[in-house]
Amino acid sequence: MKLLTIVVFGAAGFVGRNVVEKLVKEGERVVASDIAEDPFKGKITYQKADVLDRERIFDVVKGGDVVVDLAASPLVSSLEDAVGNMKVNIEGTLNILDAARKWKVNKVIYSSASSVVGNVKYNPVDEEHPCYPKTAYAVAKKACEDYIRVYNETFGLNYLIFRFFNIYGPWQSTKSGALIPNFYQRLRQNQEFQVFGDGSNTRDFTYVGDVADFYYSAIKQDVKNLVVNMGTGQGASIIELIKLASKTLGVEPRIAYKPSRPGEIGNFEADTRRLVKLFGKKPSTSLEDGLKRTFSWLEANAS
Ligand SMILES: NC(=O)c1ccc[n+]([C@@H]2O[C@H](COP(=O)([O-])OP(=O)(O)OC[C@H]3O[C@@H](n4cnc5c(N)ncnc54)[C@H](O)[C@@H]3O)[C@@H](O)[C@H]2O)c1
Repeated sequence: MKLLTIVVFGAAGFVGRNVVEKLVKEGERVVASDIAEDPFKGKITYQKADVLDRERIFDVVKGGDVVVDLAASPLVSSLEDAVGNMKVNIEGTLNILDAARKWKVNKVIYSSASSVVGNVKYNPVDEEHPCYPKTAYAVAKKACEDYIRVYNETFGLNYLIFRFFNIYGPWQSTKSGALIPNFYQRLRQNQEFQVFGDGSNTRDFTYVGDVADFYYSAIKQDVKNLVVNMGTGQGASIIELIKLASKTLGVEPRIAYKPSRPGEIGNFEADTRRLVKLFGKKPSTSLEDGLKRTFSWLEANAS
C-alpha cells in the first residue's frame, strides 16, 4: 500500500503533539507544521508556517494526502480579540481548505468543539443537537464546520469533523488555562477550589491518547463527510473530578461552595453512537488512569 503523507497543522500544540507522536510511532510519513519554533528539534519534517500566510500554506500542503487541522487561536483570546481569533480560526482554516482543494488532498480532518452546541437541551448530546454558540470562539468553530460542509458539497473535498469534548492529557500545559492542569496546580499549591452550585454538573473528559488513536484510524479508514463527537459518553461531575484528582495526588482538597452563576450549563455528555458505529470503539481510558498519566507528565514537565 502507498505510504501516505499526512500534513498536521497545529503540530506544536497539545493535541498536535500527541497526534504527531502516534503517527510517527505507527511509521507514517508526517509533515508537521505550526507557527511555533520546531518542538521536534529536527527529528521529523517540520514547516514553520502561519496559517494566515496563504502562499506558505499552499506550499506546506503540496504533496500531502491527508491534512489534519489542529491549529487554532484559543477560547480565551476570542474574549479579548474576536477579530484576531476569527482570522486564525476562520481565514486560517479557509487557507488550509483551499490548499487541500488545489492539491486534491484525500481528506481534511478538522478539530471542532462541543461548545458549538451552546445551550444543552438534552443529554447525551448527539451530532444533530441544535447549535447555539455562545462565544466568539464557538461561532468561528461552527462557521468552519459549515464552510467545510460547503466545500464538500461544492468542490467534493472530503472531510471528517471531530467535535472535541474536554480533552486532557500530556502536553496540556498549566498555562493553557484548561481545567485539569489547573486542578493539578491548585492541589499542588494547596489552593482552594471555588465550586459554583453543588458541583454535580457533569462534563465529558476525554484522554488525549485515545483521541490520537482515533486520528490514526480516521486517516487509515474510509470514514468521511460527517461530524463526529469525540467524547467518552460518560460524564464526571466537577466534585468527582476534584476528589479523584486529589486521591491521585494523595492530597486533601479545599472546596469552597459558592451560589450557582446565571447561565451555567448543566450536564454535558457526548452521544458516542456515531463514533462507535464508524470506528467500532470509543475512548476507553478511564478518568482514573488518564489522570494518573497526566499528572505524572505534569510532575516531570511543569515549569
Ligand atoms: N483541548 C481541548 O479540549 C479542545 C476542545 C475543543 C476543541 N479543541 C480544538 O482542537 C484543536 C487543538 O487544540 P489544542 O488544545 O491542541 O490547542 P493548542 O492551543 O495547544 O494548539 C493549537 C496550536 O495552533 C498553533 N497556532 C496558533 N495560531 C497559529 C497560526 N496563526 N498559524 C499556525 N499555527 C497556529 C499554536 O501555536 C498551537 O501550537 C484546536 O482546533 C482547538 O480549537 C480543543
